Amino acid sequence: MTKQTGSLVCVGTGMMLGGHLTPRARSAISLSERLFMAVSDPIVEKWLENMHPDARSLQVFYQPGCPRDRTYQRMVETILSSVRKGIRVCAAFYGHPGVFACVAHRAVEAAHRAGFSARMEAAISAADCLYADLGIDPGKWGCQHYEATQFLTRKREVDSSAYLILWQVGVVGDETHSRLSTGKLERQLLQQKLLRMYPEDHLMTIYEAATLPISSFRSETIPVKKFVTVALSQHSTLVVPPARTCEVDHETQQLLAKSRLKEQD
Ligand SMILES: C[S@@+](CC[C@H](N)C(=O)[O-])C[C@H]1O[C@@H](n2cnc3c(N)ncnc32)[C@H](O)[C@@H]1O
Repeated sequence: MTKQTGSLVCVGTGMMLGGHLTPRARSAISLSERLFMAVSDPIVEKWLENMHPDARSLQVFYQPGCPRDRTYQRMVETILSSVRKGIRVCAAFYGHPGVFACVAHRAVEAAHRAGFSARMEAAISAADCLYADLGIDPGKWGCQHYEATQFLTRKREVDSSAYLILWQVGVVGDETHSRLSTGKLERQLLQQKLLRMYPEDHLMTIYEAATLPISSFRSETIPVKKFVTVALSQHSTLVVPPARTCEVDHETQQLLAKSRLKEQD
C-alpha cells in the first residue's frame, strides 16, 4: 500500500528535564510540522514549546471524573486527525512513550491501520532511572512489573525470589481510572495482598526519580506492614526486593551436564 503524506513519530522526553532526550527524539521533534505534548510537568511543556513553533498540549483532555480510557481515546483522535490532514506529526510523552502508557501505542497502531508511516522511538523510563538509582540489575534475580490496580484485582502467581515493581501505586484500586489519588481502604487491600506473599517486616522501597537536574530522587524504605501509612504521589513506584533465594532446578542442571559430556565425547 502506498504511504499517505501525513506521518507520526512518538517520542519520550525521558524522566529528567533536558538531560534524557535522545538525539533521535530531538531530531524527530525538529523535523515535525506539529508537536503534541503529553507530559506531566508544565516546566517540561514550556521547554518543549521553546523547541517547536507549533507545540500543542494534550493535558486539556484530563478532566475531573472523565474515565482515563476516554481521555486517552480523545488524545489518540486528536493526534490522528492532524496526521490525516497530511501533517508530519511528532507526539512527545514523558519517560518512555510506550512504557505503562497506552496513547502512543494506540496512535501508532491507528496510523498504521490508516496507511500512514508511524513509529515509536525508545526512551528513558522510570524503570531505567530506578535500576540506576537503586542499584538494581533486573537480570540478577529477575524482575516482575505490574500496574498496581491490575496487580490488586487479578490473581497472580508472584515469584517472591525475584523483584516485584508496582507502577501507579498512588492510585492503586482506582478501577474507574479517573482519580488522582486513592486512600486508606485501597492501600489496606494492597498491603493485605502483599502480606500473603511477603513477611510483614520485609523491606520495600517507595521510589520517585528526580525530574530536574538540581533535585534528587526519593527512596523511602518501609516494611510491608507500614505500607498504609507511607506518603504516595502520582509519581511513586513501589519496589519489593526478593524475599527468598531462588530454588535450583537440579534435574535440568543434570540434563545440561549430561549433554555437555556427550558433546565432549
Ligand atoms: C502512566 S505511567 C507513565 C510511565 C512513563 N511512561 C515511563 O516511561 O516511566 C505513570 C507511572 O510511572 C511511574 N513514574 C512516573 N514518574 C515517576 C518518577 N518520577 N519516579 C518514579 N516513578 C515514576 C509511577 O509508577 C507512575 O504512577
